Amino acid sequence: MNKFFITTAIDYPNGSPHIGHAYEKVLADVIARYRRLCGDEVFFLTGVDQHGQKMQQTADLEGLNVATLATRNTRRFVSLWEKLGVHYDGWAATTDDLHKKCVQKILTTLHDEGQLYKKAYKGFYSVRQEQYLTEKDRGEDGGFGEEWGEVIELEEENWYFRLSEHAEWLKTAVTNGSLGILPEFRRAEVLNAIERASETDLCISRPKDRLHWGIELPFDPNFVTYVWFDALINYISFAGYRSEEGSSLPDFDTLWPANAHIIGKDILVPAHAIYWPCMLRAMGFTENQMPMLLVHGWWNIRKKSGGTDGGSEEKMSKSLGNVVDPSELAERFGVDAVRYYLVRDIVTGKDSAFDPERLISLFNSELANDLGNLLNRSINMTKRFIGGELSQTSYDDQACEEVRSSLAETIKSYRSAMDAYDLPGALKAINSHVVRCNQFIEKNPPFELRKDESQSERVATILYHLCESCLHLSVLLSPFLPDAATKIRGQLRAEQSFSGRLDDLSWGILQGGHQTGKAKPVFPRIVLEEDQN
Ligand code: MSP
Repeated sequence: MNKFFITTAIDYPNGSPHIGHAYEKVLADVIARYRRLCGDEVFFLTGVDQHGQKMQQTADLEGLNVATLATRNTRRFVSLWEKLGVHYDGWAATTDDLHKKCVQKILTTLHDEGQLYKKAYKGFYSVRQEQYLTEKDRGEDGGFGEEWGEVIELEEENWYFRLSEHAEWLKTAVTNGSLGILPEFRRAEVLNAIERASETDLCISRPKDRLHWGIELPFDPNFVTYVWFDALINYISFAGYRSEEGSSLPDFDTLWPANAHIIGKDILVPAHAIYWPCMLRAMGFTENQMPMLLVHGWWNIRKKSGGTDGGSEEKMSKSLGNVVDPSELAERFGVDAVRYYLVRDIVTGKDSAFDPERLISLFNSELANDLGNLLNRSINMTKRFIGGELSQTSYDDQACEEVRSSLAETIKSYRSAMDAYDLPGALKAINSHVVRCNQFIEKNPPFELRKDESQSERVATILYHLCESCLHLSVLLSPFLPDAATKIRGQLRAEQSFSGRLDDLSWGILQGGHQTGKAKPVFPRIVLEEDQN
């Protein structure tokens, strides 16, 4: 059995989760469920990045203790994942003791090996990005651009990691593909960034008098660990790296390397493509022990029309007040609609603009109309015309053959799209078979054919093809919409019929004599109140 270790970025719980966070977790959840369907032993790790200056600042602003803020907001993330059906196997909260111990063990070893050193720094610091700036970070006008937020001048001593020593190795690892990066076009971006990073080492500490909320350096108690150095380690600490004897964590050697670190494009450089592989190398990981980075794009917000630049997009941000709350969306439109939309309308790796009208129209057309109708008609007609009992007759014709080959084609394209992390492609493959089946009904209408008794075998065969198709479609859809898939199988009374492995998904799962159940709408159309009036 293959193992599949999948992780996402761990979210800052300094506010509430928005659809960007939700997209990443649903994307990972769909991939994890798909890999299980392929028979892999999957470990899906996600969590929260609870330390750092952002958390301390938000707590100060809200007049809260920072630990209280972290606990309160972490709950919002956890309950959203529950609501959206995001099922993870490991929860990485960086304030967890086991993580702190792991970070400190790593720091101690790196310190003992001379990979860390202390030096004084005088210069500029971006509060928003929590990083020191160099002259190279200045824009063309000589100032530090908007992306850095508030920039202050600082003079302080800190601990540094000898990042630059690994730059040459990293360049090779990125070029020869040992460090996996998808989509491919991101590789060039990383190579450019390595050039710049090779000139400086990474400051991995913050003096406690400025930031107390972090993991204390085991060899210098006046400092806490820089939040990124702490957070990146979650990928291994919660996977059992250097864990204590008898711990309930997974076996690290079996799990590592991660098959997919799913992250947004904003945290590829420098954190995941530069700091992280160099940290791993300094810890003794080899080239074949590097993870694969799957970099997704961003959900932006379509600017309200009416402005001169109507139709353009802007970033979602608290300060612009345009944040979309996924929990509210799920309450309003249902979990299926939200999960479907989030992975259907964005090409993995690219950006997309969030549009609630599109969410509704995709749900209504592809799920309520196309698939919903197919299910309803297939199960209803089977009940009414043949008493719900399927039979495999000797009747066959070209139309039936075309249904079978359309399904085989769909499974093939679905699998290759899923293997390439092209989730919209996989959903389109599913829809193409749904559309084909609906056409099959129109051209071979069982409700007409049944009037002629000599056509009874043909009618039974058509209905068999429809129900068998519905079962296959429920399997293909299950990583995306697990609850709906279960409902479909329930209506077909086929919960036990399928082994649960994609490799076993071949024509003829439903046996002659199989009794189907009652049809009940799985995807009720979304009707807005304003449409009803
Ligand atoms: N805490 C760091 C990650 C540490 S990983 C060791 C962080 N947190 S975050 O809360 O700001 O972002 C978490 C993830 O959500 C990131 O992968 C980020 O790219 C993603 N997204 C944040 N806004 C997003 C959109 N608008 N759209 C899609 N994904 C977005 O960065």
